[in-house]
Amino acid sequence: MIRHLIEQRLHAAVAAVLPDADLTSVLVRSCEPKFGDYQTNALMSLAKQRKLNPRQLATDVMAKLDVTGLCEPPEIAGAAFINFRLKAEALAGLLQGAARGEHLFFRKAATPRTIVIDFSSPNVAKPMHVGHIRSTILGDALARAFRLLGHRVVTDNHIGDWGTQFGMLLIGWKRELDAPALAADPIGEMERLYKKLSAECKADPAKLEAARAELVKLQRGDAENLAIWREMQRLSQVQFDTIYARLGVKFDVALGESFYNPRLQATVDDLVAKGLARESEGAKAIFSDDSLPPKDDPFKTQRDGEWHANPALVQKNDGGFNYATTDLATLAYRMETWSPDEIIYVTDGRQQLHFRQIFAAFRRWRADAKVRLEHVWFGSILGEDGKPFKTRSGDTVKLADLLDEAEERALKVVTDKNPNLPEGERREIARIVGLGAVKYADLLPNRQTDYVFSWDKLLALQGNTAPYLQYASTRIQSIFRKATEAGVSLDPSAAIRLGAPEELALAKHLLNFGFVLEMVAEECRPNYLCNYLYELAGHFTRFYEACPVLKAAEPERSTRLRLCELAGRVLRQGLDVLGIGTPEQM
Ligand code: ARG
Repeated sequence: MIRHLIEQRLHAAVAAVLPDADLTSVLVRSCEPKFGDYQTNALMSLAKQRKLNPRQLATDVMAKLDVTGLCEPPEIAGAAFINFRLKAEALAGLLQGAARGEHLFFRKAATPRTIVIDFSSPNVAKPMHVGHIRSTILGDALARAFRLLGHRVVTDNHIGDWGTQFGMLLIGWKRELDAPALAADPIGEMERLYKKLSAECKADPAKLEAARAELVKLQRGDAENLAIWREMQRLSQVQFDTIYARLGVKFDVALGESFYNPRLQATVDDLVAKGLARESEGAKAIFSDDSLPPKDDPFKTQRDGEWHANPALVQKNDGGFNYATTDLATLAYRMETWSPDEIIYVTDGRQQLHFRQIFAAFRRWRADAKVRLEHVWFGSILGEDGKPFKTRSGDTVKLADLLDEAEERALKVVTDKNPNLPEGERREIARIVGLGAVKYADLLPNRQTDYVFSWDKLLALQGNTAPYLQYASTRIQSIFRKATEAGVSLDPSAAIRLGAPEELALAKHLLNFGFVLEMVAEECRPNYLCNYLYELAGHFTRFYEACPVLKAAEPERSTRLRLCELAGRVLRQGLDVLGIGTPEQM
C-alpha cells in the first residue's frame, strides 16, 4: 500500500543515481514516530558496497526523490537514513479508499503462488492430543493468511493411517477387542489396545516380531487385516471430524499415508536406480553424497568427535516401508498434482532432522524442481510446573477435553460480565471466547519456544489475549448500536479530516495491516499479527478515551465514526486470519 508507493518512488530515485543497483534490497519500513512514519536505511549498505560516501549518496538520491502527494519533504538523518512523514491528505485519502471498500489496507499478491500446507495430520486409532493442536491452529492460520493475500492454497491433512502402530493394533483387535467398549468409546478402546500391545512388544521381542508380521500382511493387502484397518480408520475419522468442526478448520484434501502405499515400491526402486539409496544390512537407505560440509549434512551425525553416516531408511529388511519413503512419495505426488511453488509442513520440532533429510533427498532426486520446501516447526506446550502439559493423573491432555474446559471457564467470565443475558446466549459467547482464547494462546508466542499453558492468563480480559481483543471488537460494535439509536449513520463520502494525535496514531497503525500480513506469510509467524492486533486495540482505546465520537460536531464526528468502523473491520479481519471469531457482545 502506501509503503509500497513510497518504495516505488525511492526505487526510481535510486535507479536514477545508480542505474545498476539491486533494488530488491531497497526497502522502506515503518519506524518510531519520533523519526517519522517510514524510513529507509538501504542507502547505507549501497554506499558501503560501492565505497561511496553515504551522506553524499543520500543527498544525490534526495535530489531525485519525488514523493509529492504522499509525504512531506523527506529528511536525511544520521549517516544516510531517509525519513518520511505522511501527508495528512494522503492518509485521509487511504482511509477514504477503505471506506469506499476499495481495500482494507493490504493488497493482493502481484504474483500469486500455489502453496500446499501439510498440517494437523493426526494418527488413526490414537486420540488427537494437545500436541496436534498447535499444528492444526498454526496451519489453519497460515492457510487463511495466504488466501487473504490472494495465493492459491491447498490444505492437506496427511493423516497417519499406515504406520507401525497397526501391527500391534491388529493383534490386539483380533485377540481381545472389547466390543461394547468399542461401541461406547471407539478411540478409548483402540488406545487401550495400543497401549497394552506396545507394552507387551517392548517386553517381548517375539511379540514385536508378530506385530511386524501383521503389519507386513496388511501392507501386502491381506483381506482380513484390511477390513479391520478400514474400520479403525473410519472410527477415528469420526472423532477427527468432530474436532475440526469445533475448531472451524477445513481441509481441501485429506490424503493420508495409506494413499501413497501403492507408490512406495516404485519410489524405492527409483531412488535406488538414481543412486540415492542403496542396500545396507538387508535394508535400503539414503546416504550422504558428501556434497555438503558434515555439519550441514543431514545424513551425517557426530559421535565421539567423529562423523558417522546417518542414513534415512526407505525400506526395511522385511520389505516394509518407512516414514521417509511415504514422505518422498507424497512430495512427488504433490509436485505432479499441483505444481506448487511452496510446500509447508507444520509439525513439532522433534521432526526437524526428518524433514532436513527429506528435503535434501528430494533436491538430489528432482534436481530441477524449483519448489520452496519449508518445515514450520514449533515447541511444546508446558504445564504451569514447567513440565510437559499433562492432566492431573499424568495422561496427555486430549483436545476435546481441553476445548470443553475452555468453554466452561469462558462461561464463568461471560456470566460475571453479563449475568442478565439468557443462558443460551451466554453459552454461545463462551464458545467463541473459549475457543478463541485457546487458539490465541497458541499463536501468540514465538512458535519455536515452548510455552506455559495457563487458564487464568489466556482467559484474562486484560492483557494480550483473545478475550481482550474480542471485547475491544464488541465495544466498537456498541458504538454503532448507539449511533443507530441516535439516528446517526455513516456517510461513505463524508470528508475525513484527521487532527488529534490519537486519531493520527490509530489511522497510521491501520495502514500497517498489509505489511504485517505479508510478514506473517513470509516467515510463517502469525504471532506478528497477534501483536499488531493487540497494539491496534491499544491505539483504539487511547483514541476513544481522548476523542468523543457521537457527541462531536462535524467533520470530527464523521471522521471518528469512520475510524471506529475501520478499526473494527481490521480487528475482525485480523482475528479471522487467526481463526478466531468475534461475538456481537460480551
Ligand atoms: N502423523 C505425524 C505425527 O503425528 C505428522 C505428519 C506430518 N506430515 C508429514 N508429511 N510427515 O507425528
